[in-house]
Amino acid sequence: MAEKFYITTPIYYPSDKLHIGHSYCTVATDAMARYKRLRGYDVMFLTGTDEHGQKIERIADALGVTPQQYVDKIVAGVKELWASLDISYDKFIRTTDDYHVKAVQKIFKQLYDQGDIYKSEYEGWYCTPCESFYTDVQLVDGKCPDCGRDVERLKEESYFFRLSKYQDRLIKYIEEHPDFIQPQTRQNEMINNFLKPGLEDLCVSRTTFNWGIPVTFDDKHVIYVWVDALTNYITALGYGSDDDSNYKKYWPADIHVVGKEIVRFHTIIWPAILMALDLPLPKKVFGHGWLIIDGGKMSKSKGNVVDPKVLVDRYGLDAIRYFLLREIAFGQDGNFTNEALIQRINSDLANDLGNLVSRTAGMIEKYFGGQLPVEREETEFDASLKETAKAVTEKVDGLLDNMLFSDALAEIWTLIRRANKYVDETQPWILAKDEASKAKLANSLYNLAEAIRIVSILIQPFMTKAPALIWEQIGIKDDAIKTWDSAKEWGLLPADVQVKKGPAIFPRIDMKKELEELEAAMKKAQESSVANQTKKAEEAKKAQAERKEEEPVQEITIDDFDKIKLKVGTVIASEKMKGSKKLLKNQIKIGNETRQILSGISPDYTPEEMVGKKVIVLTNLPPRKMMGEMSYGMILVAEDENGQLALASVDKTDFADGSELS
Ligand code: ME8
Ligand code: MG
Repeated sequence: MAEKFYITTPIYYPSDKLHIGHSYCTVATDAMARYKRLRGYDVMFLTGTDEHGQKIERIADALGVTPQQYVDKIVAGVKELWASLDISYDKFIRTTDDYHVKAVQKIFKQLYDQGDIYKSEYEGWYCTPCESFYTDVQLVDGKCPDCGRDVERLKEESYFFRLSKYQDRLIKYIEEHPDFIQPQTRQNEMINNFLKPGLEDLCVSRTTFNWGIPVTFDDKHVIYVWVDALTNYITALGYGSDDDSNYKKYWPADIHVVGKEIVRFHTIIWPAILMALDLPLPKKVFGHGWLIIDGGKMSKSKGNVVDPKVLVDRYGLDAIRYFLLREIAFGQDGNFTNEALIQRINSDLANDLGNLVSRTAGMIEKYFGGQLPVEREETEFDASLKETAKAVTEKVDGLLDNMLFSDALAEIWTLIRRANKYVDETQPWILAKDEASKAKLANSLYNLAEAIRIVSILIQPFMTKAPALIWEQIGIKDDAIKTWDSAKEWGLLPADVQVKKGPAIFPRIDMKKELEELEAAMKKAQESSVANQTKKAEEAKKAQAERKEEEPVQEITIDDFDKIKLKVGTVIASEKMKGSKKLLKNQIKIGNETRQILSGISPDYTPEEMVGKKVIVLTNLPPRKMMGEMSYGMILVAEDENGQLALASVDKTDFADGSELS
């Protein structure tokens, strides 16, 4: 039975701003998965999307859709992007998938029952309009980093994971498994910067927003974030469901590929959760570097993103995949520039590889009408070419096993360059002039075609289109001479191979002209993106809110007014909301029903003053959650210039509750 190999990418935050930085991570993981498949492994390659949280809830709100509608649309785009990059994932998990939700709830409950999760209080700076907590460092000049308004010091009830309990076991595990965290430098960082100074317990639930997996035994809380996100690596395999056969087969993961900023979560929090669940730990976490643009990390929030679709459309997928994995040593940061990309395309792809293929195919057509004669005579240059091929195929496996993609490609290119040199050495155009050198000419062209066969096999993890195009031109038909292992054997190409020159696989690019056109194309793509539209919608909403005060009074029709259901109510109970300076939690009797309504009227009104008051209630607002409590409507208040509040009411103290205003 084939050995299993389980490899994962992070689950991405759903965004239509997925850029070449995200693509870098998936393309690298894809190359590794393809390589292992070629080596005969039973591969499980997992990717997916991390769909919960307040940010998503807000964006959806700004766009006037539900969070689920929003993520559904975005995730379709993410899948399209991966399809256009030929990402060969075996499984795509969405954290909104039902089986994941159920398994996470089960895991959370288990951890709670066994005492690894406990209830406590989270303290931070709270912005009421944004309904968000921030830490000291997140504040901007002491104000809310999102809306710039004042924040209050508040406490929120939260569940915590007992991370601190696992500190010693984690240090011991990492020290005893030197391969666990790669590259090595990241291991020292984890131990010295995070583990040795001491771990704090981790806040794992929130009550201030709804878009998350509910805690089954306490429905004020949603699970946030890592117990939801990290567990995807096992729930995707069916852990915690009725069918966990994939879990049994593939876990533990062989490699979690992650960006360097989330190595900490994958090598501290994730192992601690697994220890708590008494499950085996992943064998390796590989932290890759960032794609840098103009000296800063390419990121959605900065807007300095390069759209992979534009690049693929212009240069083809293989060029992009090659560039990403060749230009930057995996594990280190690397600069992305359009110049460097075009430079690589021209030199490595058009000049070295493309040229080798078209020259060889062209000469076989020209000198032999496309079919090589079987009669061959060796030359003094053959041995060196064959030795290079042998050495390269021997080294590439070791490099790829260690995810050294750039080194592996450099190694493959030594064979391509050696073959090009062999053309210069054997000079087929001279041999062709003399009928007596025909066997030597056949030999030279055969060896070139054979070197190309070997190269076409070795580039398969990286390039998904070129190998087949090469096979077509060089006449490589039999699957047996395309296998990974067949690259290690020289001379498998049939002697009388039938060759047919085709169009250039990697056309050369005019750098200067292209740079200008590319910039224009990227701008255009940026403007038409959904991200841009989202931003515009958010800005429009903000602007509208700001305009309100100056706007001339807008006329409405009586039908508009009829939609507003205002009723008289009596406050029968009122209390301060724990942790809030402004909010009171009121119970209002409105006719036959009693409703809970939260109102920001403290300190103008105390709970004692509120009880017994006749108030006017807007009754047909959708229910809304604030700080973990539901509010079913709104109490009408007036506000004067100084911010003083006064309740609206009716002028007969014994007027019946539930009476409608019109
Ligand atoms: O972190 N260069 O999601 P994410 C290289 N949902 N890699 C980059 C990059 C860049 N410029 N920008 C982003 C999350 N990435 C969580 C993960 S896992 C259980 C939860 C990489 O969408 C980044 O390093 O912010 C990370 O590995 C991945 O894209 C997803 O980032
Ligand atoms: Mg991130």
